[in-house]
Amino acid sequence: MLNLTPEFSKSLDQAAYLVSHSEHVVMLAGAGLSVESGIPPFRGPGGLWANGKGQTNLSYREFLRNPGEWWETRFRNEDKPGDPTYELKIAVDQASPNPGHHAIVEMEQHGFLQCVVTQNVDNLHRVAGNQNILEIHGNRSFLRCIKCGNRLPRDDYHFDILPPRCTQCDGIIKMDTVMFGEPIPEDVLMACRQQVETCDLMLLVGTSGTVNPAARFPIIAKELGASLIEINPDETPLTPWCDIILNGSSGELLPLLLKRLLNISLIERGT
Ligand code: APR
Repeated sequence: MLNLTPEFSKSLDQAAYLVSHSEHVVMLAGAGLSVESGIPPFRGPGGLWANGKGQTNLSYREFLRNPGEWWETRFRNEDKPGDPTYELKIAVDQASPNPGHHAIVEMEQHGFLQCVVTQNVDNLHRVAGNQNILEIHGNRSFLRCIKCGNRLPRDDYHFDILPPRCTQCDGIIKMDTVMFGEPIPEDVLMACRQQVETCDLMLLVGTSGTVNPAARFPIIAKELGASLIEINPDETPLTPWCDIILNGSSGELLPLLLKRLLNISLIERGT
């Protein structure tokens, strides 16, 4: 539960003022945003990969070595209680957007936010209703052909052969989720870079700031003159770069920030 001290409230007011007086606001979202939707983060308290539990079956090189075997292992792990793949699948399948996601949609609708660059693959920004989303690590609801780049909804695909083949070019299909050692799809990476170079404010929400290239985006933005606001219960390697630090959960903080933003716009519109 947030402790709204006068200092905290002042930081929240400063953050709202900065957001409402910025021209192009970009959000870099991480797994922490979905914690209040019941999806564990990867790192930090309660992280899927905390206490040395491995990142299973996520190596792109392993996938390319034997795609058919990779898919067999994937389906097996998805049915294995206790396996991180199983835990994440169950959590994401049952998850729905939390108040943090809904606040982000309203921020976009009211023009306080221009783009969400998300590292999350859980599809919750789309379900919540955001329009301008860049999924830098892909989206687990989709599949992607490694030959032509065609993306297709996983639910529409029948896995009658392994490895699955592209309906357009017969190339091999993988999860749309970006794997370790896999290049970020060029179209998404270029779009992210464009946002980073255009923004005058970046909101860092629920990210440990540890995985590149996403972790570099706030630093590049800052070096280009943007301001940074961090929303996270804990400190991260990005904290020292930030102009305003709001320590707390995004599900509580983002609705409070939105409320202040709406108040500012009411006052400034004089209505
Ligand atoms: N609200 C906001 N932030 C939170 C909350 C919360 N309720 N709970 C935890 N956090 C913070 C943690 O303090 C941590 O800093 O969210 C962050 C989660 O960090 P990670 O699990 O490392 O998530 P992320 O930064 O998105 O990881 C980046 O790593 O494994 C890859 O592809 C994966 O996209 C992921 C990438």
